[in-house]
Amino acid sequence: MRNKIVAGNWKMNKNRADTAQLIEELMSAVTPSAAEVMIAPTFVNLAEAVTKLDGSFIEVVAQNMHFAESGAYTGEISADMLQSIGINTVILGHSERRAYFGEDDALLAKKVDAALKAGIRIIFCFGEELQDRKSGDHFKVVGSQLKNGLFHLDGDSWKNIVLAYEPVWAIGTGETASPEQAQEMHAFIRKTIAEAYNNEIAQDVTILYGGSVKPGNAKEIFSKEDVDGGLIGGASLVATDFAAIVAAAQ
Ligand code: PGA
Repeated sequence: MRNKIVAGNWKMNKNRADTAQLIEELMSAVTPSAAEVMIAPTFVNLAEAVTKLDGSFIEVVAQNMHFAESGAYTGEISADMLQSIGINTVILGHSERRAYFGEDDALLAKKVDAALKAGIRIIFCFGEELQDRKSGDHFKVVGSQLKNGLFHLDGDSWKNIVLAYEPVWAIGTGETASPEQAQEMHAFIRKTIAEAYNNEIAQDVTILYGGSVKPGNAKEIFSKEDVDGGLIGGASLVATDFAAIVAAAQ
């Protein structure tokens, strides 16, 4: 049985004081639901977030990491550094990392390997751009992102993989994929995994939808059979909105 997850990706928002305040607000607003709940503050505030949420059902996760164990990689963060402050899950391959920081499938495959080697769970993001959807190439693009980033893994490794389908045209735009579009793509993703591996792995992997999920649309999107929760950007920065989205995951 796969888990449901609602994860808040704070991106480059909230300084130290704002982070502490939002965590306080979340601790009173968010109530446990069927979903695992995660937040991803920025690197500099992770350690403090972990301390504040010690013993809470809200897990603190990282937005990115480097593939090397250590060394001359100025400005980068390793798996060991994350684990040493109590982080056990990392978001990899977010479309903003792909678009603005040149992270391609080959680099992401290396990051995936490094995270798994360290025993860190991965939320692996991927999704087509608007032009891909317009030209009808969205299944092809999503299929190749999956294959290039993840299909070198053995079956066992999939226990530590969570997928987040995030159509780039729906991120931060206010435009959401319809629940039917999300379901159609999630079913395609599961079928692609079943063909590459087997049906059990395909059925067990949690597939999140991301892209302008809000309190008003979360319930309908999450009600779709193959949608197992969401990766939430903008709405995760408002405690009451994030709480409502968590509550929508039944
Ligand atoms: P959004 O971001 O909810 O603001 O569209 C989603 C994401 O980037 O994960």
